Amino acid sequence: MKRPQAQVAVLQAADAQEDRRIDEVAGEAGLKPEAATRAAFELEDDGLLTVSEETVEHYELTEEGERYVRESLPEQDLYEAALDAGADESPVGMGQVIGASGLDGGAVDIALSNYARKGYGEIDSGEITADPDADVGGDREMHALEAVADGRIEDADADALDQLERRGLLETDEETVRSVRLTDDGVTALMEGVEAAETVDRLTPELLTSGEWEDVEFTEYNVEADAEDVPHGKEHILRQTANRVKDTLVGMGFQEMEGPHVDAQFWINDCLFMPQDHPARTHWDQFALERPDEIKDLPEDLVERVHSAHKNGVGPDGEGYHSPWEEDVARGLDLRGHTTSLSMRYLSGHEIGELEPPQRFFSVEKVYRNDTLDPTHLLEFFQIEGWVMAEDLSVRDLMGTFTEFYEQFGITDLEFKPHYNPYTEPSFELFGTHPETGEIVEVGNSGIFREEVLSPLGVDCDVMAWGLSLERLLMLMYGFEDIRDVHGTLCDLELLRETEVMR
Ligand code: PHE
Repeated sequence: MKRPQAQVAVLQAADAQEDRRIDEVAGEAGLKPEAATRAAFELEDDGLLTVSEETVEHYELTEEGERYVRESLPEQDLYEAALDAGADESPVGMGQVIGASGLDGGAVDIALSNYARKGYGEIDSGEITADPDADVGGDREMHALEAVADGRIEDADADALDQLERRGLLETDEETVRSVRLTDDGVTALMEGVEAAETVDRLTPELLTSGEWEDVEFTEYNVEADAEDVPHGKEHILRQTANRVKDTLVGMGFQEMEGPHVDAQFWINDCLFMPQDHPARTHWDQFALERPDEIKDLPEDLVERVHSAHKNGVGPDGEGYHSPWEEDVARGLDLRGHTTSLSMRYLSGHEIGELEPPQRFFSVEKVYRNDTLDPTHLLEFFQIEGWVMAEDLSVRDLMGTFTEFYEQFGITDLEFKPHYNPYTEPSFELFGTHPETGEIVEVGNSGIFREEVLSPLGVDCDVMAWGLSLERLLMLMYGFEDIRDVHGTLCDLELLRETEVMR
């Protein structure tokens, strides 16, 4: 039988009577451990070898832990000092005992918190007592520290080890150790004779420059064999999902919008017929810039039409808000709280010129809100914005679009609830069911833009629009319960590494 060189070496180094560690086998076979592991998995796949795995824990003392082994634990020092001061007879003032113990700085706090926990004595109203029966010499944590230091881990008490780890005196580390053993088939193969096939298992610069690559025979890779897990960088699932959303929308005939994260309130709020005294326009809800330089290029005629819509309304029965409207406020810069600002820019013709129906646009971009952090809210999140401009749109078109969109992500149980937005009528919110908790989760908000929005923009057909949360979509797809598992400093790296992306 012919086998690649590494496999032959591993077969020959393995034993049929006992498990041998792969790193030993690798050493003997003159292979790198990774190469030996790969060869072992390939041999296992062909039934010539078994590979077993074991998790071995390593313990190592921290610098502080080592110091205590050489000296003593701070609580032991405190106990000694307390005994010397006669605290076994009657309570003694703390200041005196601490002074005599020689402990200072952080060591005092460490001593105090462990002293009472271990029952060395009591600390109350500035006085300390020492229990004469406390077995301070037999301290289990000290014993465990010494056992680790001497490499006698089996002598250490498991609870004491946990405690040492919590105290930062010990670090543990897990290692996966793999061992191999020859199977009967492996033994037979060896007896029948296994030769190294002269194949090349990797393409090197030398092979390329010498032209030799044209003549050599390459080793076949068994891509189905198990392999060692090598953690590597990969695209964040949020980014992957954002890209998938974009592909999906492009597939549904949408074009992508782009625009500023910091924008004039005009585009964020005023165009959307949000009165300037609307509560959502305060710092409770959105982030204003500390130096809100004014935006220069607002289209004057549009500003005038939007102003008039706010003041007088639109059409013969228009009412308007009768509340103050100032251009200065409209020019103020904020971090956008939604990407509907982009929809306003595009619908107005300001971005890529006047648009003739039918049109479909989207964006998948960051928005910023002054929310309170909790499992479903962050201060920034990705919004899937979109709109369709066409004659005669109805709520059915909106529902149909959402049903089609979410189906592509495996979400088929959407629910809709009537809602209110200053800029759409009718409006409704979308909900999905969380796959783990069964809770109903709001995933988006939508509606059909009202006349007061469209008329100043110069649009005279229907426009249906929405803002959906990318993070909530992710929660429904993957079952995350806390958005902070995915984003930010508390994120769960293991989960991010292991989540398989659905395609
Ligand atoms: N701007 C809305 C939000 O952030 C979403 C939305 C966009 C609703 C367009 C209706 C129309 O919640």
